[in-house]
Amino acid sequence: MLTQLTSFQNIGLESERIIVEVGIHNGEAKMHIVGLGDTAVQESKRRVWLALRSSGYHIATCKVTTVNLAPADIRKSGPRYDLPIALGIMHSNGILEVPDRRLKEMAFLGELALDGSLRHVSGVLSAAIACRAHGIRTLVVPAVNAPEAALIPGITVVGAENLRDLVAILHREKEPEVVIPPAATPQVQAADTVDFADIRGQQHAKRALEIAAAGGHNVLLSGAPGAGKTLLARAFRGILPPLSKEESIEVTQIYSVANRLPNNEPLIHARPFRLVHHTASGVSIVGGGQVPRPGEISLAHRGVLFLDEIAEFPPQVLEVLRQPMEDRTITITRANGSVTFPADFIMVAAMNPAKYGSGSAQRIHRRISQPLLDRIDLTIDVQPVPIEDLQKAPAENTDSTAAILARVIAARQRQAERFDGLRLCTNKEMNVKQIDALCPLDAASQQLLKTAVDRLGLSARAYHRTIKVARTIADLSGADAIACAHIAEALQYRQSIER
Ligand SMILES: Nc1ncnc2c1ncn2[C@@H]1O[C@H](COP(=O)(O)OP(=O)(O)OP(=O)(O)O)[C@@H](O)[C@H]1O
Ligand SMILES: [Mg+2]
Repeated sequence: MLTQLTSFQNIGLESERIIVEVGIHNGEAKMHIVGLGDTAVQESKRRVWLALRSSGYHIATCKVTTVNLAPADIRKSGPRYDLPIALGIMHSNGILEVPDRRLKEMAFLGELALDGSLRHVSGVLSAAIACRAHGIRTLVVPAVNAPEAALIPGITVVGAENLRDLVAILHREKEPEVVIPPAATPQVQAADTVDFADIRGQQHAKRALEIAAAGGHNVLLSGAPGAGKTLLARAFRGILPPLSKEESIEVTQIYSVANRLPNNEPLIHARPFRLVHHTASGVSIVGGGQVPRPGEISLAHRGVLFLDEIAEFPPQVLEVLRQPMEDRTITITRANGSVTFPADFIMVAAMNPAKYGSGSAQRIHRRISQPLLDRIDLTIDVQPVPIEDLQKAPAENTDSTAAILARVIAARQRQAERFDGLRLCTNKEMNVKQIDALCPLDAASQQLLKTAVDRLGLSARAYHRTIKVARTIADLSGADAIACAHIAEALQYRQSIER
């Protein structure tokens, strides 16, 4: 008897179809798993036997069971094949009575606990997308994963609590529970978000953060301890526009593959805000591992990567950020191929230059290279707010997070109209050709930029990035063309520690 069941393996964010073949023949009771499986796959044998036994299914002991995971050149990892292996064994032994034709229309994923219950597995959203692409009608997953899979329309999702329940469903003795896809609820404010209305003074910093949010530009907050850098960074997440449905699914897919989906949250609604500590390893920041997993820069996709105390990060870790900041993706190369994860984030960095003493510019330079500084579009000097201002009631005209967010959304709308048909969302994504086409400069602006390049010694990259920031400033003020004042303001943020 030979049974074939479909399952999926994650490779990066993609899922490849895997055929789980189970064959039995007479001989000494034994089970072999072949087809490039890792340790977790090999350990399936014990989990599956015990789960079958504790679910009350007794397999004849005079048989050799061979499980083949095909194609053989794809590395199989994790406990996700427990379920198809168990069902394949039951089918080969005549315990599961489902016609082959029906099995062919289904795909299976799930880890088995020793008592036969089904446990959460990673990457179910990617598997659901692949399922639809392969024209497979039904995806069978652990009940906890079912809402996540149901995000993808066009396939039927069956969630099961345990093996016995699933067999009853497959035997049509029991109706599967209806799986409701998670609704796209409005963005909920994270508990630690700060409202801009509660931050006294800091007009200059608030303005720069508004520009950063509107155009997707990178920011460095520089200032003394207690000046409010962390406070401003936390407030920043509140002025980013809500994720669209497509963006939500994209972000959820990354968290699903990384096995980092929060409990009871099958769809991520809020823009990611990843605070990375300088002691974090390079792999945890950029991603990697035997079976490549996304790192912090991919978990920050479509959101914020917050590097507090950036000058404390090992220079080699900061260096590897350069390429993804340019490409907005990260490619991890392994002996058996490479995978690419999205990594489109706004970098918010904070540092205290005084900590590095006099002549600090040089010392900081030694830690943060010029190419990385080039990629920081807005450097904000955060001065401590005088005690009198902290004690006073907030000024009447202090903008709330909601008011700033409304302006950011309007500016992004203007960008979307300009980029119609170009597959760009924000100004930061423009390449040189698009800058030339979409950001014409008048003579005065060109002259001003030329002077600035000469005086500040800006690189070609910094030159183009300054124009993009100026474009965002123009968008915030509703201007169709970039004016000299927009360039002047953009240049103001490209300063201090660069020289
Ligand atoms: N402008 C402000 N309005 C209201 N409170 C402020 C302001 N600036 C600072 N504070 C207060 O000071 C505290 C410290 O600010 P924060 O943690 O942001 O400082 P920091 O610049 O990140 O310091 P460090 O360099 O030590 O990390 C805040 O939690 C807040 O209570
Ligand atoms: Mg801080």
